Amino acid sequence: MLTKSAAKKFFIIGTVVCSGCFVLLTVDTISRVPKQTNADKITPQVIHGKDLWDHNNCMGCHTIMGEGAYYAPELTKVYERRGEVFIKSMLKDPASMYPGQRKMQQYNFTDEEINSLVAFLKWVGEVDLNGFPAKPDMGPAAAKAATMTLSQIPTPTRPVVYDQVCVACHALQGQGGVVGPALDGVGTRRAHDYLVSWLRDPLAVKADSKMPKLPLTDEQIQELASFLSSQK
Ligand code: HEC
Ligand code: HEC
Repeated sequence: MLTKSAAKKFFIIGTVVCSGCFVLLTVDTISRVPKQTNADKITPQVIHGKDLWDHNNCMGCHTIMGEGAYYAPELTKVYERRGEVFIKSMLKDPASMYPGQRKMQQYNFTDEEINSLVAFLKWVGEVDLNGFPAKPDMGPAAAKAATMTLSQIPTPTRPVVYDQVCVACHALQGQGGVVGPALDGVGTRRAHDYLVSWLRDPLAVKADSKMPKLPLTDEQIQELASFLSSQK
C-alpha cells in the first residue's frame, strides 16, 4: 500500500511525465506537417482548387482524407488512380464517364477552374498520410475497373492512360469495364489512322457515339493508337 504522501508524489510525477510526453509528441507532429503536406507545393492554383472544392460542396457527396460524405467515391488518391484525362472529363460532363449510372452534378466549370481542381486533387494525393487510406473505397463499379490488372500484357507497352481511363469502359483479354466494346483484336478491325481520329473525337467519326470525347494529348493519342494497333 502507498502512503498518502507517496500516492500524491506518484500522481504528480506521473502527470508531469505524461504531460511532458504529450507536449513533445505534439510539437514533433506539428513540426512534421509542412514536410508531410508538401507545404511548398501549395500554389495559388491549388488554393483556388480548394476554394472551388469548398464552395461547390464536393464534400456533400465525396470524402477527402476520410472527411465528407460517403455517397460518391473517396477522392484522396483519385489523381493517381484516374489521372488528369479522366478527372477533366468527369468535371466537364459528369455523365460521360459513368453513362447510365447515378449522376454527379453538372457544374459548368471553366477550363481554368477544372485545372485548379485537378491541381488541388494532385496536391491532396501527394500528402503523406502515414499510409492512409489503406485501400481506397471507390464504389462498386469504379472499384471493379480500378482493381483490374491486365496481367497478361506487359506494363511497359500499355500506356498509363489506358489503365487510368480506358479500362473503366473497355475490356481487354476479359478484364475491364463493359460500357464499350471489348478491344481484343481491334488492331485487325481498325487501321492506325482510324484509331487516331477516333481517339481525337469519337463523335466526329460516329455522330451517335456513346464514347465521350476525352481530353487526350496528341502524344497520348499516338501512344494509345500504337498500342491498340498491336492488339491483333
Ligand atoms: C451530388 C453528389 C456529388 C457532388 C456534389 C459531387 N460529386 Fe463527384 N461524383 C459523384 C458520383 C455519384 C460519382 C461517381 C459516378 C457514378 O458512380 O456514377 C462521382 C465521381 C467523381 C469523380 C471520379 C471519381 C472516380 O474514381 O471515378 C471525380 C474526380 C469527382 N466526382 C469530383 C468531384 C468534384 C471535384 C466535386 C465538386 C466540385 C464533386 N465531384 C461533387 C457525386 C457527386
Ligand atoms: C465512358 C466510357 C468509355 C471510355 C472511358 C472509353 N471508351 Fe472507348 N468506347 C466506348 C463506347 C461506348 C464505344 C462504342 C461507341 C459506339 O460505337 O457508339 C467505344 C468505342 C471505342 C473504340 C472503337 C472500337 C471499334 O471496334 O470500333 C475504340 C478503339 C475505343 N473505344 C478506344 C478507347 C480508348 C483507347 C479509351 C481510353 C483513352 C477509351 N476508348 C475510353 C466507351 C468508352
